[in-house]
Amino acid sequence: MNKVQPRIQKWPATSRLLHWLSALLLLVTWCLILLYGNNENPLYISLHKAFGISILFWTIIRLMNRFLTNAPPAVPMPRWQSIIARLTHFALYALLIAMPIAGLLMSVYGGRPVDIFGLFEIPVFVTPDRSAARFYNDLHTNIIWPMIIIFTIAHVGGALYHQFIKKDNLIKRMS
Ligand code: HEM
Ligand code: HEM
Repeated sequence: MNKVQPRIQKWPATSRLLHWLSALLLLVTWCLILLYGNNENPLYISLHKAFGISILFWTIIRLMNRFLTNAPPAVPMPRWQSIIARLTHFALYALLIAMPIAGLLMSVYGGRPVDIFGLFEIPVFVTPDRSAARFYNDLHTNIIWPMIIIFTIAHVGGALYHQFIKKDNLIKRMS
């Protein structure tokens, strides 16, 4: 007998597109800093900054889209799990905003304008200050980045748990 599959309630197309675009941009921004670590070609750090700023832009668009569209009804799960999932999502949004801002402040306090793909430049809009530049460097590399890694691992781990252990097709909602 054919078992009737419950209909999967997907996220709106704009949310799905913005979700995967964010994940891709995060990967590209990270690869560029890894490349820069191996070979200090100024092109890599310049592209790292431009892609990083584009993450700030797309995250703001994504949050606006989140408020303007309806999320699908939550997948049934124990209350503690849904609280952790929501907190993780909230943290990821906040970190994707904080990370580029810390990077931008690190650059401008270091007296360096930020070139955005050769299209325009964000000027040094503060009085350069080495100790402020060091502070934002520390925030960018030693605090926010490890938090992005931890929350992303928790997030992807949760998605894989739903996919392969609970088998509730959660990932289909976002693909
Ligand atoms: C979400 C966006 C961003 C992510 C995920 C990101 C990630 C990273 C990572 C992983 C590092 C290397 C940390 C380490 O050495 O262990 C780094 C370094 C750096 N980032 Fe970003 N970044 C982002 C945005 C930006 C932006 C917008 C700027 C500047 C406008 C920027 C400027 C820099 C600079 C100058 C370094 C080198 C710091 C150093 O070598 O001391 N980043 N970034
Ligand atoms: C292979 C990697 C990834 C998978 C499989 C994945 C999967 C998912 C799924 C299935 C959802 C929807 C959950 C639901 O319907 O309740 C979701 C939401 C979300 N994902 Fe991912 N994701 C991945 C990577 C990322 C990355 C890298 C980020 C950002 C750093 C991210 C940020 C988010 C956020 C913020 C939400 C919440 C959407 C909202 O409630 O507004 N994801 N993800």
